[in-house]
Amino acid sequence: MKIGILTGGGDCSGLNPAIRGAVFRALDYGDECVGIVEGWQGLLSCETEPLDLVRVDEIIDRGGTILGTSRTNPFKDTTLVQQTITNIAALGLDAVIAIGGDDTLGVATKLAALGVKVVGVPKTMDNDLSGTDFTFGFDTAVNVALDASRRLKDTALSHRRIIVLEVMGRHAGWVALYTGIGSGADYTLIPEVPVDWDVMVRQVMTAYKRKKYAFIVVSEGVEVTTQASVEKLDDFGHMLLQNRGVGPEVARILEEKTGVSTRSATIGHIQRGGSPTLFDRILGSRVGVKAVEMVHDGDFGKMAALRGTEVIAIPLTEAVGKLKTVPQEWVDLLKVFSK
Ligand code: F6P
Repeated sequence: MKIGILTGGGDCSGLNPAIRGAVFRALDYGDECVGIVEGWQGLLSCETEPLDLVRVDEIIDRGGTILGTSRTNPFKDTTLVQQTITNIAALGLDAVIAIGGDDTLGVATKLAALGVKVVGVPKTMDNDLSGTDFTFGFDTAVNVALDASRRLKDTALSHRRIIVLEVMGRHAGWVALYTGIGSGADYTLIPEVPVDWDVMVRQVMTAYKRKKYAFIVVSEGVEVTTQASVEKLDDFGHMLLQNRGVGPEVARILEEKTGVSTRSATIGHIQRGGSPTLFDRILGSRVGVKAVEMVHDGDFGKMAALRGTEVIAIPLTEAVGKLKTVPQEWVDLLKVFSK
């Protein structure tokens, strides 16, 4: 078979291990793999590159994606959909493996409904995709944020300050939640829970009096009422949050309310790159391998999902279009660590 592999949406660590896993498994079947360059855009421009053992052998520990990525949405326009389908045939592809988050897999779902032989591989540092327990990229992103947290706590203590760390995560609070618990933060703000300034100030000051500093984690998607909300939208209609500046705004308000010198740091894209953690290398490799097995099993319109310790094929329709947000039991757990 000739299998096309693409990576779409925001990059994250683990994409290269997934590409590598797919190519390694494809070799067992005697398949030919080609990389589709820059996500769905590559199927509009017909830009591909050969993917053989030499190309992927050394990429297990590399962040980002060797194929490049984009947030191109062919379903913005029906002629682009037709062009995508025509080009898959023109490139002689027997199947497409689409590695991406909700948007990329949303396109895969719609193409599968039109008869395209497509298999999904879930990824996102936000960990907000339904149908799978974890996505690769998340573990690496949180570990980078944990490293930043340790550094920020050192300087916060030295200067007797409050420091706010803003992390990514769009509209789900998983990255902030895990960073907050994992770093021992004194307070963590996630988009799923409205900000209660009185409770927050009380908690932060209790911790500050005990330790002579306080450390706060805030997710970029948190709504702080005083901020201007004029974000740009991407191809899929999502708000781009990079200009929202929730971290600096939370720091400004906290300083005003507590009278304590407060600083903020925004980790931004630093947490999206870098060598994948062991967890992301293994998960990426496993779902990449599974995707090729699914192609051979005829499991089109499905995605390789992590359920417990197993990687299984589930319908894409079970995963896309329903953001996996932080449920109440995790919010309750978070509260335990605010003392
Ligand atoms: O979805 C992954 C993500 O990193 C989000 O956490 C973040 O809001 C967004 O991508 C940033 O996108 P961009 O790279 O386009 O600025």
